[in-house]
Amino acid sequence: MKKVTLRQINKTNFSECIKLKVAPNQENFVAPNLFSLAQAKANPLLFPFVVYDDKIRGFEPTENDPMVGFVMYQIMDGVGFVTRLLIGEKFQNQGYGKATMVEVIRRLKMMPEIEYIGTSVAKENKVAEKLYRDLGFIDGDKLDEREFYLKLNWDPK
Ligand SMILES: CC(C)(COP(=O)(O)OP(=O)(O)OC[C@H]1O[C@@H](n2cnc3c(N)ncnc32)[C@H](O)[C@@H]1OP(=O)(O)O)[C@@H](O)C(=O)NCCC(=O)NCCS
Repeated sequence: MKKVTLRQINKTNFSECIKLKVAPNQENFVAPNLFSLAQAKANPLLFPFVVYDDKIRGFEPTENDPMVGFVMYQIMDGVGFVTRLLIGEKFQNQGYGKATMVEVIRRLKMMPEIEYIGTSVAKENKVAEKLYRDLGFIDGDKLDEREFYLKLNWDPK
């Protein structure tokens, strides 16, 4: 299975991050990275990361190691909530989205304060919904007119 390495946003990778785009018909499913980074700057409970293929593990990415995606989670009141998952249009359908979620779940499960791992999905976003359910997410407790909530079927205790 594909594996990824997550890296923090810094002055070197920032431009590549904000240029990363989804397909036009996916733009309703996720905010642009520029907006997400602005949100994270204003909210210390948000943790944004850029995503690379795992072959960069232990190294700085070179020009041959494109950034493939972006992910952000929030940690608040014992909940690790994945607020963004974006794989660049050119890198989709190669296993990176699933591998990114596997890595985020691995990280969140290691944090002693996390009791609940959740996310939300737009109702018509069938690809993301299937990806989450395949990884063990089940229906969460909230529903609004645009999106629904999922929680990982996981008991930390
Ligand atoms: C949803 C998204 C993150 C998935 O990432 P990805 O890297 O393309 O997904 P993966 O390659 O890991 O594939 C995961 C599964 O989805 C399937 N899949 C991926 N793209 C697909 C497509 N366009 N149509 C149908 N199935 C697709 C894969 O076949 C795979 O299925 P499998 O596990 O049964 O083999 C990516 O499409 C994306 O960034 N979309 C726009 C933003 C978005 O919707 N974010 C989620 C917000 S909740």
